[in-house]
Amino acid sequence: PNQPPVVFHWFPFLGSTVVYGMEPYKFFNKCQEQYGDVFTFILLGRKMTVTLGPKGNEFVFNGKHADLCAEEAYTHLTTPVFGSGVVYDCPNHMLMEQKKFMKFGLTTETFKAYVPLIKDEVVNYFQTSPFFSGQSGKVPLSTAIPQLTLFTASRSLQGREVREALTTTHAALFHDLDMGFTPVNFMFPWLPLPHNAKRDKAQKAMAKLYLDIIKRRKSGEESKKEIDMIWNLMNRSYKSGETLSDLHVAHCMIALLMAGQHTSMATTTWTLLHLAAKPEIQKALYDEQIKVFGKDLAPLTYEKLSELQMVNNVVKEILRVHPPLHSIMRKVKSPLHVPDTNFVIPSSHFVMAAPGVSAMDEKYFKNAKEFDPFRWVGHEADEDNAEKFDFGFGLVSKGTASPYLPFGAGRHRCIGEQFANVQLGTIISTLIREFEFSLPPGQKDVPLVDYNSMVALAMAPAMVHWKRRAG
Ligand code: HEM
Repeated sequence: PNQPPVVFHWFPFLGSTVVYGMEPYKFFNKCQEQYGDVFTFILLGRKMTVTLGPKGNEFVFNGKHADLCAEEAYTHLTTPVFGSGVVYDCPNHMLMEQKKFMKFGLTTETFKAYVPLIKDEVVNYFQTSPFFSGQSGKVPLSTAIPQLTLFTASRSLQGREVREALTTTHAALFHDLDMGFTPVNFMFPWLPLPHNAKRDKAQKAMAKLYLDIIKRRKSGEESKKEIDMIWNLMNRSYKSGETLSDLHVAHCMIALLMAGQHTSMATTTWTLLHLAAKPEIQKALYDEQIKVFGKDLAPLTYEKLSELQMVNNVVKEILRVHPPLHSIMRKVKSPLHVPDTNFVIPSSHFVMAAPGVSAMDEKYFKNAKEFDPFRWVGHEADEDNAEKFDFGFGLVSKGTASPYLPFGAGRHRCIGEQFANVQLGTIISTLIREFEFSLPPGQKDVPLVDYNSMVALAMAPAMVHWKRRAG
C-alpha cells in the first residue's frame, strides 16, 4: 500500500497554505484533476489528506471515532471561544450526550413558539434600521445580516434575556468573542495577539451572562416557564448521573450561538444576493406566500412553513452552491486504508472532506454552477433525508455516500438543521412579503466568495437595493 500523492509545493512548512486558503474550491478542483480524489497537501506543516467525491465524503463523515477524531482537529479554535468541558474539550461520548440534550430543546413545540418571535424581530429590524427607512434604498449585507441573524437566533433559541443583553451590555463582548472565531486560530490560538486577549476576556464575561441567568432562574426570581434552550439544558444530566453543571450549560449556549450565527448569517446573505440577481425567483416566492397564506397574507406559522416548498428549495439550493463550511477535518488516530484505493493514510495525518466539491460537480448536478432552486422540484420526498436521492443520473445515494451534505453526516452531523430552516424560512418569508430586491445598477452577478473567514462569505461590498412592494 502507498501513501496518497502529495501536492507539489516549494516551501516545506508553508506547503499549499496560501493557495488553499485563498480559494479552497479552485485548489481542490485543480488537485482532483491532477491527482484524483485522494491527495495530501501541507497546511502550515500539517499533512492534510483530502478525500473528494461522495465516497470521500462518506470516508470522513462515517469514520469510526477510534480512527478519526474531530476534537483534536477543532479544539484549538473552539475551546477558547466556547469554554471548557463541552463540545471538543471533552471525551467524544460526552459530546454525543450534549448533542442529545441540545436536540431536546429543538422540538416542534419550541419551533412553534419561535416562528412569531423570529418574525417580530425581522419586522422590528426593518422598521428601526436606518438601512430600511423610506420607500427604497440599499442595504450593506455584511452589516445588516449578522445583526438580523443574531437578533432572531438570540430571541428564539437563546432566550429573551440573552437577546436583550446582546444589544446592550454585551454587544461589544459578543463582537470580541466573535473575533476569536477565525481560521488563523485553527493553528495559532495561543498567539499573544490583542484579539486573543480580548477573546479570552469576552468568553468569561459571556459565560457570566448565562451563569447569572441560570442563577436567577434557579432562585425563582424569573419565570421558569420561558421555553428556551437554557431552561432545557438546565434540566439535563449525563448517563453517569452527573448533571450538566451551570458552567457547562453556559458553554453549550455559547457553542450554539457561534455554530448558528456564522452558518445562518452566510446563508441569509447569499440568499438575498441570489434573489436580487433573479427577480423571477422572488416572484415565485411571493406567489407562494399568496397561495399558502391567502391574499391578505395571514401570519406565518411553523405548520405553514413546511408547505412553502419554494422557500425550502431556495435554501437547499443556496446550501448547494454556498455551503458555509468548506472543509471538514479529523485527526487520523490509526493508519487507515481508503476504500477502493491502495492508499493507506498514516496516523500522523489529518483528513479533510469537502462536500461542496461534489455538490458543484457536473457528474451529480446538471449545470452545477447555476443557482437554480427549481432543480429540487420533484425531490420533495427527499425532504427528510437529503442524503438519499436520485437526480436522474442513476445515482441513488444511501447513507452518507452522497454528493450533497451541507449539514454533514454521521456522529458529528449538525443538530441545527431544523432550527436553521425555521430561522431562514421565517426571515425569507417576512422579507419577501415586504420588499423587492435587486443588485446595484450595473452589477450583473452576485459577488465572488471571500474565504478569509470561518464560513464562505460574500466579498465586499455585498450590497442589495430594495424597494417596498406596491400594494
Ligand atoms: C455540526 C453545517 C446551523 C449546531 C455541523 C456540521 C456541518 C454543519 C457541516 C458537521 C461538522 C463536522 O462534521 O465536522 C451547518 C449549516 C448550518 C448549521 C450549513 C446552517 C445553514 C447550525 C445551527 C446550530 C448548529 C443553527 C445550532 C442551533 C451544530 C452542532 C454540530 C454541528 C452542535 C455538531 C458538531 C459535532 O458533532 O462535532 N453543522 N450548521 N448548526 N452544527 Fe451545524
